[in-house]
Amino acid sequence: MSWAVPKEVEEKVDALVRRYPKPRSAVVMVLHALQEHFGCISPEAIEWTARKLGLRPINVLELVTFYPMFRREPFGKFHLRICRTLSCALAGSHQLHRHICEKLGLDPAKPGPQTSTDGLFTVEFVECLASCGTAPVIMCNETQHEQMTIEQVDKLLDQCRCKCGTGREGNLAAEHGFEP
Ligand code: FES
Repeated sequence: MSWAVPKEVEEKVDALVRRYPKPRSAVVMVLHALQEHFGCISPEAIEWTARKLGLRPINVLELVTFYPMFRREPFGKFHLRICRTLSCALAGSHQLHRHICEKLGLDPAKPGPQTSTDGLFTVEFVECLASCGTAPVIMCNETQHEQMTIEQVDKLLDQCRCKCGTGREGNLAAEHGFEP
């Protein structure tokens, strides 16, 4: 199947471009719009963005590889970001990261984001999540979880699986009092 930008996404991109004096100035916003729709920035998206904004593909690729918020591969339904900076490291975030990786069949020593084979979870070690006083901190998608323990991590993973119908039955959100 050929890659194409749907009409409504292109209209959104055109509206973004119109906000800037020069089309090329909209490149980061355009990439965000494409990532929001496709889940990642593929080589086709890089080519399309370059054509759209009058840039060379290498200019767009440089941005995509520079900024960590841009993904070059699809992520899992749940993106787990584990803080590895000092306060969280001292509070046990490396042990949490290793535990999560082992539970999901991932390699804790491998750099960069990794996605579980079922496509549910992408696990990533990240720098400070700006909540150092409540270390160790984990973000699950856009929700921040503070003072995490191994037990809470297990519950969070269960809750995520439940949301996808792949975990044990029951309302774990109510049971454990937090949302993934
Ligand atoms: S060190 Fe982990 S949130 Fe700042």
